[in-house]
Amino acid sequence: MSLPLPLAGRKLLLGVCGSIAAYKAAELLRLLKTAGADVQPIMTPGATRFISPLTLGTLSGRDVPIEIFPDTPAMGWTRHVELGLWADLFVIAPATADTIAKLAQGRCDSMLTATALSARCPILVCPAMDHDMFLHPATRANLATLATYGYRIMPPEHGPLASGLVGQGRLPEPGHILERVVLELGASDAPTLAGRRVLVTAGPTREAIDPVRFISNHATGTMGYALAAAAAAAGAEVTLVSGPTNLTPPAGVTTLYAESAEDMTQAVFSHADADIVIMAAAVADYTPAEPSTTKVKKQEEDLTLVFKRTTDILATLGAQKMDGQILVGFALETDHGEAHAVDKLRRKNLDWIVLNDMTEPGAGFGTQTNKVTLLARDGRRVDLPLMSKPEVAAAILVHIA
Ligand code: CTP
Repeated sequence: MSLPLPLAGRKLLLGVCGSIAAYKAAELLRLLKTAGADVQPIMTPGATRFISPLTLGTLSGRDVPIEIFPDTPAMGWTRHVELGLWADLFVIAPATADTIAKLAQGRCDSMLTATALSARCPILVCPAMDHDMFLHPATRANLATLATYGYRIMPPEHGPLASGLVGQGRLPEPGHILERVVLELGASDAPTLAGRRVLVTAGPTREAIDPVRFISNHATGTMGYALAAAAAAAGAEVTLVSGPTNLTPPAGVTTLYAESAEDMTQAVFSHADADIVIMAAAVADYTPAEPSTTKVKKQEEDLTLVFKRTTDILATLGAQKMDGQILVGFALETDHGEAHAVDKLRRKNLDWIVLNDMTEPGAGFGTQTNKVTLLARDGRRVDLPLMSKPEVAAAILVHIA
């Protein structure tokens, strides 16, 4: 079974403003198109200084209106009104402080701002700017004003900015914006997890050999973080238990950090009453039996380490599963994937297992994409196509919710 495209038949306006993050608009447009949407780009004059209209025009297969005054009658005298009536959703990404200020004042000096004023559809604003510009009381007041007009605001992410500063202001990754667009448009199809407590684990664990060395694996946490973000976007109260990663915690999620399998066990068990537990972390199955408290010095002879088993967190949760609780495991396999995954599903008393085949191109550790198969306790099987990890996360939630 393959999933229907999440944005099939949907008409989107993509407004792009003059921010360095405008380069991400090309990728966002491509993702929206791949998800099935018909996308009409609109650029502010400033945006064309950062990215060419030719790029967005080619990717969308449409012309790219910029100025409010058309050069020829063929371009239409009332284009802003027609576009505003045509769209199901107007996404402005990136939205600069200047455009946000204009929208708050109801100004219409470009095709983008005039269309926003004419639009009858919902408008999703994704601000992107430097940290201090975002925190300035004027920007905050303008965003608060937009919220009172019914605009939806997707907050920028925290991280390194083009200025060299680190702070809040980064445009969310295109995959996250796609996820939000799907949720905005598909309120009826999108999973609703409002009022549900969801616990997600992510990343690797590190098992200490001595104070300076550890054993770990290649997990980056990307899939688990995407799941936590998708669950929060679906309205759940989300706790993310994260092993060591380089990722920024998703907005609206309570994040707890765990170093070792033992730390992760403690953190998960302190939230084991969650309605849904998704164990995406690559938890070590073994840990050094007697880690040294001082640095191990090299010797002439070979070194032998003795390992002991860690707690199987998921199997323990499965053995004491509460009524109605949903347990989801991950199986990363290199051979006989389905047989191993079904065995884990049964052995650990899971409701779903997400089978990740390491041998599939674009799947597994360290990629931005994934190709998984979902296997359910009741025998259902869903083969998802190769998608970005945020898309995979959204699709997993559609099924388990
Ligand atoms: N898991 C867990 N606790 C552990 C180890 C794994 O909860 N100590 C979870 C993982 O988060 C994942 C699933 O169990 O959801 C993976 O099952 P597992 O049998 O441990 O797979 P592998 O660790 O890959 O082990 P194997 O070598 O048996 O394939």
